[in-house]
Amino acid sequence: MKVGVIMGGVSSEYEVSLMTGREMVKQLDPNKYEVIPIVITQREQLVDAVKGLDFALLALHGSYGEDGTVQGTLETLGIPYSGSGVLSSSLCMDKDLSKKILRSEGVQTPDWLCWSSMAEFTAEAVELLGYPVMVKPVSGGSSIGVEKVNGSQELRNAVQKAFAKDASVMIERYIKGQEITCSIVEDELLPILGIEAVQGEWFDYSAKYEAGGADEQVIALPLEIQEQVRTAAWASYKALKCSVYARIDMLLLDGIPYVLEVNTLPGMTKTSLLPKSAHAAGMTFSSLLDRIIAVSLV
Ligand code: DAL
Ligand code: MG
Repeated sequence: MKVGVIMGGVSSEYEVSLMTGREMVKQLDPNKYEVIPIVITQREQLVDAVKGLDFALLALHGSYGEDGTVQGTLETLGIPYSGSGVLSSSLCMDKDLSKKILRSEGVQTPDWLCWSSMAEFTAEAVELLGYPVMVKPVSGGSSIGVEKVNGSQELRNAVQKAFAKDASVMIERYIKGQEITCSIVEDELLPILGIEAVQGEWFDYSAKYEAGGADEQVIALPLEIQEQVRTAAWASYKALKCSVYARIDMLLLDGIPYVLEVNTLPGMTKTSLLPKSAHAAGMTFSSLLDRIIAVSLV
């Protein structure tokens, strides 16, 4: 079976995507697949690059990759691909829309506000949420363009900077809780990981990708809280119509899991969370990829 590992792309997560893609290429069993690494640097390359593939293993992150556009192209071309479909990919990429759906399904998520232009922005509304807040590009990933803002003086500047990265920007109430993540593969919830940024206050880009940037371990939670986390993870996955696999990021405060987002193409780099969690469940990186491919083909 000819498996193309599609990586790179045109989003701000290009470098992360290359790390994911290279790791996937390394871990795919050459006895099972004919592995074809495909680096995309321009959108127009995609259609020609995937011709003749039996399967597209997506190592893309962010816009034009994780957001349903590439999935739609592959659907149109009739090439099977890994992970969630078009609708779910688009929904999960938009944090504002996905939070609206999560909330309507009774999943806890921090309060937030969203604007689609700087002209709409009003600092007064933010006062109601209370500081600190997290400023985020709505469709970003890997915390690129995300800032923690402690007071009104820094707010406008941070929002302006986020608008340079995205057409919509949101601010979210800062929850000073334990960062946790829960991944789902097929019908299996993998062990919950707790995340501690080693330097800095939260799990930012360098904490995510620098060796030793964060300490991520299976977290021992009281059974009752574990159950709450698992329920929130499943509810989010289902509400957003995910399939095959996803990673659900949350903050845990006073026993309540607040879902921040659902990642439909979560990082699969050497330091990434999903492979770590799979490893804790007794799955090697290679067998995780086998499973993702097999389930995507069903
Ligand atoms: N957006 C990055 C790749 C992640 O969620 O892991
Ligand atoms: Mg993300």
